[in-house]
Amino acid sequence: MMVLVTGATGYIGAHTCVELLAAGHDVVAVDNLANSKVQVLSRIRELTGRDVRFYEADILDGGQVDRIFGENAIDAVVHFAALKSVPESVAEPLRYYHNNVTGTLNLCARMARHGVRRIVFSSSATVYGASVTMPLTEDAPLAPVNPYGRTKEMIERILRDVYESDNAWSVALLRYFNPVGAHPSGRIGEDPNGVPGNLMPYITQVAVGKRQELVVFGDDFETDDGTGVRDYIHVVDLATGHLKALDRIAAGPGIHTYNLGTGTGYSVLEMVRAFERASGVSIPYRIGGRRPGDAAVSYCDPTKARTELAWTATRGIDEMCLDSWRWQSQNPRGYEAG
Ligand code: NAD
Ligand code: UFG
Repeated sequence: MMVLVTGATGYIGAHTCVELLAAGHDVVAVDNLANSKVQVLSRIRELTGRDVRFYEADILDGGQVDRIFGENAIDAVVHFAALKSVPESVAEPLRYYHNNVTGTLNLCARMARHGVRRIVFSSSATVYGASVTMPLTEDAPLAPVNPYGRTKEMIERILRDVYESDNAWSVALLRYFNPVGAHPSGRIGEDPNGVPGNLMPYITQVAVGKRQELVVFGDDFETDDGTGVRDYIHVVDLATGHLKALDRIAAGPGIHTYNLGTGTGYSVLEMVRAFERASGVSIPYRIGGRRPGDAAVSYCDPTKARTELAWTATRGIDEMCLDSWRWQSQNPRGYEAG
């Protein structure tokens, strides 16, 4: 297939491009580089021996998106492009709704105009909000608690309405749990701007000496050791999930929702210990207050993806930590070094 990947130079997008190219698909990539670096493209080429056709463009720009569809015979779209910081979305809701929701509306309108009706959408476990029943199945109630999460819920609804209006569409809504890790080569990985908001990049930056200590956000949750529990998933497993989802939507029209996670939760302190084991570096930490909005526990039931997509996450936390560490230690300044 010729696949248009939006947000292709971002963390998950880049890993997915590698897997798509390795599987023999052609990739057309679009990104406005709002949260990624163009150097990623040469690393993708280095890993796969293949080029993606890259457009530095904003999906909000209808003319540019039209041009991309006009110049390439796109079979399907994998839509990662979005802003993803929860605190930023609270501070700047208009920017988030505009970028994520309007961007998707614009993309889908152009898809329809060019007769492309297959889309894999990056949704998030955050759409479930603070649900109490674990593990989370796809039919758990949706109750996102911040603007970022609400953009994802809204886009899911929009795509359902699009399918209802025209049953020729073929849509996969993928709800990711907590992506971590990096390509095992250490050549591509997560390169956040500024102070990392997420646990794993924070740990790896402490490990390379960029940050002094990790602050654990609360040890008084109702979990075994009191710290938050999450379903961490290796980014390469997540990437292969997209290939399976593409196969599913290429097989025929419909709309499908899948959790992509391992089904196992680990606490913050378990992650710290796993990272120390994998890297041999000790991670100084202190216990701080809870972060507003954080759930105690979040992990999924991945059965639906296993049975319908024949997809399972195969990489455990040791591999996640080892690969995150390889990436960070070999690229202490991320992609900056070229
Ligand atoms: P990322 O920020 O690394 O990648 C997103 C990419 O989209 C960036 O390269 C950015 O420059 C690009 N982009 C943003 N707005 C754009 C626009 N208007 N036009 C063109 N490009 C645009 O993030 P990621 O971690 O790779 O996440 C990819 C997707 O997965 C996002 O939709 C995100 O919301 C979703 N997701 C991520 C996580 C996570 O923890 N990383 C969890 C659940 C869901
Ligand atoms: N944590 C710390 N210290 C830190 C960072 C995080 O203790 O410096 C803790 C959090 O309190 C939480 C766990 O580590 O218990 C994981 O936190 P992350 O910020 O890495 O991940 P979240 O589960 O909070 O959220 C992430 C993304 C969301 C996405 C969600 C589900 O940030 O956008 O996963 O996919 F929606």
